[in-house]
Order: sequence, then C-alpha cells, then structure tokens
Amino acid sequence: MYSINIKTKQKLTDVSKSLYGLFFEDINRAGDGGLYAELLRNRAFDDGIIPEGCKYDSENKLITSETGWASSFDCYEGEGIAAWECHDGTVMKLTDKDTLNSNRRRALEVNFNGGMITNDGFMGVPVEKGKQYRFYMFAKTTVAAEVTAKLCSVDGVSYGDHTFSINGGYTKYECIITSTETDYNARLALYSDSSETIVIGFTSLFPVDTYMGRENGLRKPLVERLLKLNPAFLRFPGGCIVEGFSKETAYRFEDSIGPVWERKPHWLLWSYMTTNGLGYHEYLQFCEDAGIDAMYVFNCGMTCQGRNADYFDENLIEEFYQDAVHAILYATAPADTEWGKKRAENGHPEPFTVLKYLEIGNENWGTEYNKRYKYFYEKLKKEFPQFIYISTDHTEKSGLATEYVDEHFYSDPIFFAANTRMYDSLDRNGVSIYCGEYAATIGCKEGNLYAALGEAAFLTGIERNQDKVTMTSYAPLFQNVAYKAWEPDMIIFNNHEDYAIPSYYMLEMFGNNRGDYVCEYDVVTENDRRIECGHFTAPDGTIVEGKTYSADTDISGEFRIRFWDRGTVGEDQNHYDWILENGTSKVIHYNGWSAEIICSEIPCGISGGTNHIEITAYEDSFKLMLDGKIIHEHTLGAIPHITAVCTVDKKKKQLITKLVNFSENEVNVRITTDAAMQETAEITSLTADSYFAKNTFENKNAVVPYTETIAVSSDYVVTIKPRSVNVICHNID
Ligand code: AHR
Repeated sequence: MYSINIKTKQKLTDVSKSLYGLFFEDINRAGDGGLYAELLRNRAFDDGIIPEGCKYDSENKLITSETGWASSFDCYEGEGIAAWECHDGTVMKLTDKDTLNSNRRRALEVNFNGGMITNDGFMGVPVEKGKQYRFYMFAKTTVAAEVTAKLCSVDGVSYGDHTFSINGGYTKYECIITSTETDYNARLALYSDSSETIVIGFTSLFPVDTYMGRENGLRKPLVERLLKLNPAFLRFPGGCIVEGFSKETAYRFEDSIGPVWERKPHWLLWSYMTTNGLGYHEYLQFCEDAGIDAMYVFNCGMTCQGRNADYFDENLIEEFYQDAVHAILYATAPADTEWGKKRAENGHPEPFTVLKYLEIGNENWGTEYNKRYKYFYEKLKKEFPQFIYISTDHTEKSGLATEYVDEHFYSDPIFFAANTRMYDSLDRNGVSIYCGEYAATIGCKEGNLYAALGEAAFLTGIERNQDKVTMTSYAPLFQNVAYKAWEPDMIIFNNHEDYAIPSYYMLEMFGNNRGDYVCEYDVVTENDRRIECGHFTAPDGTIVEGKTYSADTDISGEFRIRFWDRGTVGEDQNHYDWILENGTSKVIHYNGWSAEIICSEIPCGISGGTNHIEITAYEDSFKLMLDGKIIHEHTLGAIPHITAVCTVDKKKKQLITKLVNFSENEVNVRITTDAAMQETAEITSLTADSYFAKNTFENKNAVVPYTETIAVSSDYVVTIKPRSVNVICHNID
C-alpha cells in the first residue's frame, strides 16, 4: 500500500533558497586542465618540486611529512620534465637560477638548434578548427632570436603559429593562434633556429572562448553543466586541500592572488601540483558571474586529522588567522585600502558582494579544533559580524557559540535511503546544519542509479527539514578521467568532453523544482528490512564466525568489539562497534566514512575489570549483554520503498511532489490532495533497468531524466517505475 496525502494549504516550512549549492575542490585534477581552462600541464615547470618540510623517497616515489604522513609523489620526472618533450636535436634542462620571480623556483633553459619542444597538456592539447587560443610565455635570452609558438599534431603538422622576436631579460610574449584543424591530441610546440640559450620562465595556453570570455577563465561547457543545477552558492577551495598534511601544504589565500605567474605553486594533498591560477579572486569572480553566493573555507591552524595532524603553534595559528582576515578584506574592503587595492589591481575595483559564508577549517574536530574554532570565531565575528560562520564539528556541544555545523556523509546507498528521517528530530532552536559533503560511495564508485536513488531519498528528508538543514553540496564535483584520486565524482571529463553521473541528473531535477514552501504531507509505504551479516572481530583481532560471541574479557580503557563486520577493506566497509568506556556504553555503525551512533551512550555501571560480554546478532537486530544484563537491544531501521517531499510554488501555481522509489518494483501510489488540480501534470523521471546503470563517455545518456504528461486529479493513482527518482509538477488553481 502506497499513498501520499498532501495538504497544500498547511505550510510546514519555507523553502531554503540556499539548499542546493556546489562544493569545488581541486581533486582528481579538477582545476588546471579541468574547470580552470589552462591547456598546458606543468606550465611553470614546478611539477617535480617536493613540498618543503617533506622527505622524498625516490625509489618508492613517496614524500613523508614531518609528522610522518606518507603520500605518493610521482611527477613522471624520471623520464624527463613532466609534460615537456624535446625534438630534433633540441636540448633542455631545468634551472633554479635566475627564475622569473621569487615564487618561481624553476625555469627551462632551451637550446633549440633548429628543433622544438612540445607540451602534451592533460592527455593531449585539444584544439578545434576555427577556434582561437591565447598563448603567452615569459622568456629571456642574451642573443636575439626568433621563437615560434605553434599548435600542431603529434607529428608536428602545424595548425597555426606565431613567431616572436625574443631579446633581453624576461619579457611576456603573447599571441592568439586560430587553429586550422580539430585535434584533441594536439601539442603546443616552441621551435627556433637559434642555438643560443633561451630561458623560458612561464607558459600558458587558454581557449579564448572561456566562461564569460575571461582571460585566465573557466572551461565553458563545465561551467554550463554546473549552472544547470541552479546552484545557490559555491563552497571553495576544499576540502582536505585546505588542511594539507603539513604546514607547507596547508592552503593560504595570499598565495592564490595576483598575476598568475607570480603566484606560489601549491602541492595539493591529492598528489599533484597546482600553479594556483584558479585562485581566490577567480572563485569570487565566478560566483559574481554566475550570480551565486561564495563560501570560503580557510585553514584554522591545523592540518588534516586523518593524516597525522600537525597542530600549529600560536604564532602560526595567528598567521593563518591573518590570512583569513586578509581574504575577507580582499573581497570586501574599499579599493583605497591595502587589500582592496590589491583586488583593484587584479581587475576588480568594487568590492565583491558575493562572500556570504566563512567556514572555519574542514573536517576538524575535538579539543584542538575547539580551541582554534573559538579563537577564529570570536575574533572574526566581532570584526566581521555580517558573515555566516560554519563550524566543522558540533562545537555547540562543547558550549561554544555555533551558527552552522558542516556534516559530511560518504556511505552506501542504503545508508542514505534508511536515513531519510535523520533530521526530523533536530532541535528547532539549535544550530543549523549544512550538509557540506555527501555521496553514496560504496558499491557505486563510478556513479550509478543506485547512488542517485539513495541520495535522492535522503534529500527528501533534508527538504522536509530545510528550516534547519538549509544548505547541501554533493562531493566531489569533478574528475579528470585520467587522474582519479577519488570516486565517484559528479562530472567526469577528459580534455574536450564530459558527462555526468546519475546523481547529477537527480540534483538537476531537485535543484530546479524548488517551490516556496514545504507543505504537510503523509507518506504510507511498504518497507524492506535492513539485513546484515558478517562475523565478529574480537578485541584481539581474532575473527569469530557465527551469530553469537561471548567471552570473559577485560573492559578497561576504551573497549571495542566489532560485529556484523563484512570486511574491513575495499568496497565492503560496513561494521558495528560496541564501545564501553568510563562506565558508559554505546553502539556506532561505521559505513564508509560515515559513523552513525545507533545506540546512544547510556550508563552501564561497569568501567573496568574482567566482565562477561555477550553479543547475539540476528538478521536485522542485535542484543548486547554485560554480566548477564541486557545493555542494548536494537532493530535496524527499515528501508522505505518510497519517500517523498511536497512543496508549493505560489507564482507558478504548482504542487511539486518529489517521489523516490528505492525498491525494484513498480508501485502504484495513491495521491490525494486538498488542492483543486488541473487535469494533467508533468512527471520527470530518472530510472533504468538496473540499479547499477551508469553513464559513460560511450553512452553519456544511459541514465538521464525524461518527462511525460499524466492525467491527475485531487485523488489519483500514479504508477511509479521501479528504481526511480520522480518530480511531479501538478498545476493547481
Ligand atoms: O570530497 C573529498 C574529500 O572528502 C574532501 O576533501 C574532504 O573534505 C572529505 O574528506
């Protein structure tokens, strides 16, 4: 039995105008060669520079931070200089002497001898017939020479060129080349007859046709994809890259502004270098161009806690505090102030009005975070009260003033589908929630319908609670298919094409059908039990098969025992931990990167010594006993087949019903409403024959929404496809 009874005249809550936003992080080479339209890789020759403070193990291509965090470091320099190649007798080498400026640590010395050097971009330089490309380089030579820049095929066949006369100290040489051919595996080549040494300090190649035609701009089709989601804000620049894994890899705003060739490069903890060309100014400019709000995330004086954290001392915390203050002033201060002047010099005399949210750190927690959060929040709020501040932990529980908490969920589709009521019991007078990162990741690495269904079900719950959960953003946004660090990602691109995963289309449907208020509604649905299986992992690591585990064991300190453990590596990261500590007991469900307390902490009366523990696990319930006494008895939440949310759009006179069918059966849903309905409605559905259906470069539209017209009334039955996300737009009088 499935039904939705909708009371359009009873308002549950207003729609949050900021509910659907974007989170951009430079991960999977999402920046250079991706959203940032630069076509040359290693344009500043700094790809092989090891971050300061790190030790390098060349054999294993690993760098290790001062706190012992090891990360891969492979810039393909064993075979030469990343992305650059010599041809026909040309000789090149890197130098750290007399570079373009103090932030450029290397330059390229070239003796062309009638040959050429080429850059192969991000898996080829993509050029299209009739399109223009802006090239520039900084070069110097003591003997005048002619150097030609050309777009060409792998074999050197020219698609257009320009010759520069080079002489004297570092000078910017710039040209626009129109390509005579389309070739997505082209090269940028530089050649010369000269045998003298020519030093190149920096290079760049951009399509002229960027988003809003901006130089140093963004790749138009990728921006267009983003804007189709109808986003309200952009959170940037990360993510873990803000935290870094060492002092030197922590993100600093001041390195990301000014002429791009003067910006410091930055080693991103996703294992590659960025020239910081996509910097703070560019993010704000994008927000302004797109008409969306900006949410700036800054480092709060510590590195990533999942990567052997470095907790900065007071001086360094203050330095990072000042960096945050400067970022705010850069965005907002008048042009005749120190930081406003810098913004004006960078082409934006008027203050940016888009900056609205400030997030203190990323995924930081605990005592060390609380200290830093308090320091940043109290000082910033006093100086800049106009912003909305976001904490990355429930700092309010430690008695700290907290406006918003950013919660992150990476889990399996079932976690999302089973948690549609997660926010129903939020304290309406408490903190607001920003669900800043979420994605179904387990079992859906490449992005599939199953993931989109789970997320959609979860979002219906968020929409119902959008008085308190007022912002969300899916993560991560982009993946260059040749440089995967994290999966799934919402938009996959190569150097000239892109496609979106089903979650994108679900969000396009949700983000473009908002309404003005959520109205009262009741859903009646069948449910599936959430069934678990697996083994026990005893405190000493021994795996115990079966349905019960019992032992006399010492529960001193923090005692943990794991059950329904389906494995600890790879895809199957699902387990439940019974935790006894300081005389209390609780159960946490770990699923992917999500930790959900499923049995809240209660006193158990015992805090040490040898005690008898006993766990009995059934299919969807468990019983935990201590010294013969039941401490927890729990049945797992069911998975509703259908979930829904209903909003009313006053201007369009529409009742919008979002209806997710997570089950694999077609269901007939009876819809009753108090509204006078017109006879037809449009239903847009996202579905496929299999949960695992996905989009690919070969079939970009395997899972995309389609719209049909259906007959409706104030009491009608709609047939909902198996495994489907649906938005029904009813016209009401
Ligand atoms: O979205 C990928 C990563 O997940 C982000 O960098 C981080 O905030 C989270 O751990």
